[in-house]
Amino acid sequence: MSLLQIDNLQTHFFTSAGVVKAVDGVSYAVDRGEVLAVVGESGSGKSVTGLSVMGLIDAPGRVVGGAIRFDGREIAGLPNAEMRKLRGARIAMIFQDPMMTLNPVLRIDTQMVETILAHRAMSRSEAWALSRDTLGRVGIPSPDERMRAYPHQFSGGMRQRVAIAIALLNKPDLIIADEPTTALDVTIQAQILHLMQGLVEEERTALVWITHDLSVVAGFADRVAVMYAGEIVEEARTDDLIAAPRHPYTRGLIGSVPSRNLRGRRLAQIPGGAPPALNRPEGCRFAPRCAFCTEGCERPQELRDKVRCWRAAELPEYAEALA
Ligand SMILES: Nc1ncnc2c1ncn2[C@@H]1O[C@H](COP(=O)(O)OP(=O)(O)OP(=O)(O)O)[C@@H](O)[C@H]1O
Ligand SMILES: [Mg+2]
Repeated sequence: MSLLQIDNLQTHFFTSAGVVKAVDGVSYAVDRGEVLAVVGESGSGKSVTGLSVMGLIDAPGRVVGGAIRFDGREIAGLPNAEMRKLRGARIAMIFQDPMMTLNPVLRIDTQMVETILAHRAMSRSEAWALSRDTLGRVGIPSPDERMRAYPHQFSGGMRQRVAIAIALLNKPDLIIADEPTTALDVTIQAQILHLMQGLVEEERTALVWITHDLSVVAGFADRVAVMYAGEIVEEARTDDLIAAPRHPYTRGLIGSVPSRNLRGRRLAQIPGGAPPALNRPEGCRFAPRCAFCTEGCERPQELRDKVRCWRAAELPEYAEALA
């Protein structure tokens, strides 16, 4: 069994306008030393899935079904106190905005030392030294000095490194990274990807990397799970997904990534937008935007052989579809 295994997860928000089925039967797994990318457009349920694993869904939201197994143990619905023991110790999350992790009014050293002492028996000076070493490890220059700084004294990229350092402090087995490089320029983004890649290799950390940008994870993730409207529509090894996407939505995503193979060709855009969560089509959720939509697509789609499209096997080659 994988380190993290999510089965048929359902996380709903009970709003005055209706029940938002943000995560509607999602399954994925990730093992030690492995990177799983979760890719999809805004609102597809990527973050809510990650927050469900962290036990961070607040009212009006609730995990209403499915299982979340971490290291062989069911953690969906675990009491708050138990979940807090796991969070920051064995499971950590990195957010797009590092200020979700950082407290603006506390020095970095205070925040780091407290994170360690909340979970481990260690002296304050040992915790301080470990914190400083971890800052150095994520590429922060002069970590001894920077330990005494406040979050606003760092640039955006450096602040994200501090948040990553905090996530690493207690050597978590699993890290869920939710678009942590989206706000950063491409050079810093590449540095952070490289840093995380090293970590997965050296520490055998399991990493779930959430992004809307497939090109960011193409050379980095082992597998990709593509989410659309609260569901996984395709999962595959990254190379296979890019070389031979099977779901029309994945084809569209790849079509909008500039690549060597596609150079010179018109970049495909997926027309339209994702259906509103409160008003999704009853059949295939992607049907209204799908170039291959036909009779039969008005039926709800099952995930078969890791793709949620009954026509996947018979669809024409991507290049032909573009012509
Ligand atoms: N507190 C909430 N109350 C009501 N609906 C919510 C709440 N939080 C999230 N949702 C809904 O859940 C759905 C999934 O949201 P989620 O944040 O997981 O999307 P995402 O894939 O992470 O998108 P993005 O790329 O924009 O981060 C959306 O339709 C969103 O409106
Ligand atoms: Mg999100």
